[in-house]
Amino acid sequence: MEVAKRSTEKSVKHHALLFYCGKEMPAQLHRSDPRILGWRTLEQSHRCLAELLRAGLSVLDVGCGTGAITAGIAEAVRPGGYAVGVDRDEALLEMARTEHAGIKNLRFERGDATALTFREQFDIVTSARALQWIAEPGLAIENMKRAAKRGGMVVVLDYNHNQNQWEPEPPPGFKVCYEAFLAWRRANGWDNEMADHFPELLQSAGLVNVSSRAQDEVVNRDEPEFARQSYLWSGTLQHVAQQLIAAGFCTEVQLEEALEKYNSWVKADLVRQTLAMRAAIGIVP
Ligand SMILES: C[S@@+](CC[C@H](N)C(=O)[O-])C[C@H]1O[C@@H](n2cnc3c(N)ncnc32)[C@H](O)[C@@H]1O
Repeated sequence: MEVAKRSTEKSVKHHALLFYCGKEMPAQLHRSDPRILGWRTLEQSHRCLAELLRAGLSVLDVGCGTGAITAGIAEAVRPGGYAVGVDRDEALLEMARTEHAGIKNLRFERGDATALTFREQFDIVTSARALQWIAEPGLAIENMKRAAKRGGMVVVLDYNHNQNQWEPEPPPGFKVCYEAFLAWRRANGWDNEMADHFPELLQSAGLVNVSSRAQDEVVNRDEPEFARQSYLWSGTLQHVAQQLIAAGFCTEVQLEEALEKYNSWVKADLVRQTLAMRAAIGIVP
């Protein structure tokens, strides 16, 4: 298993120090697991948005990652519509461009959600699983609102990591590392209950007719998606390992043991995993 490389710890710590001196807001430094992002689809992974799409719409997808959902959006708005995916991670964007090169009404651009420059251009501006990594989600939502046309929609989807559930209970070592992950996120100013704070954020940004609904991702052992969906926490912890360890939230040994036990437990014992999610919609007045 690949965990912390000591050589990178110094630079991560240095970066964290800059954050805490108030010179920079904490930003997602690790790369989201491209395998997990690539498995997602519009229909399964952004159901609320899928229901709203129709031919002719223009859609901006903020924090698009490898563009799996964005590609589904582009297909759903044909003919006449188009989709633009924006992400701050150029390497993920390159994967997106390569993977979805054949889709003509789709393009990917580098951009930060807290500094978007689009103005009144899109019928729908969406963001899935990205605002949870942004210390100023309100600013990102204001930018998303500005990118949408009058009468257009902002549609957001994210987790409440405090309410995720596993049945039966996962191994204690995993729970310790999961708690460390939540504490690390809190220390970076990232909201572990992002999904539940959407209504107030959308309203504060001046969006109207705000609504919110549960959009949990539930998978049972006997379902075809079980292997992929249950990999999420293994993959996520491996991808944030360097930073968790460098920032002192857990040790390399703790994390290695936790992942080993968790992976065996998933194979033998996990029956049902529930990721607590909510989608929220606001209209631009
Ligand atoms: C968990 S992934 C979600 C990707 C995709 N939307 C999905 O649902 O599968 C979060 C994405 O948000 C991007 N991201 C994080 N902070 C961002 C920011 N400030 N501006 C733009 N993208 C950001 C990351 O690079 C990553 O691709």
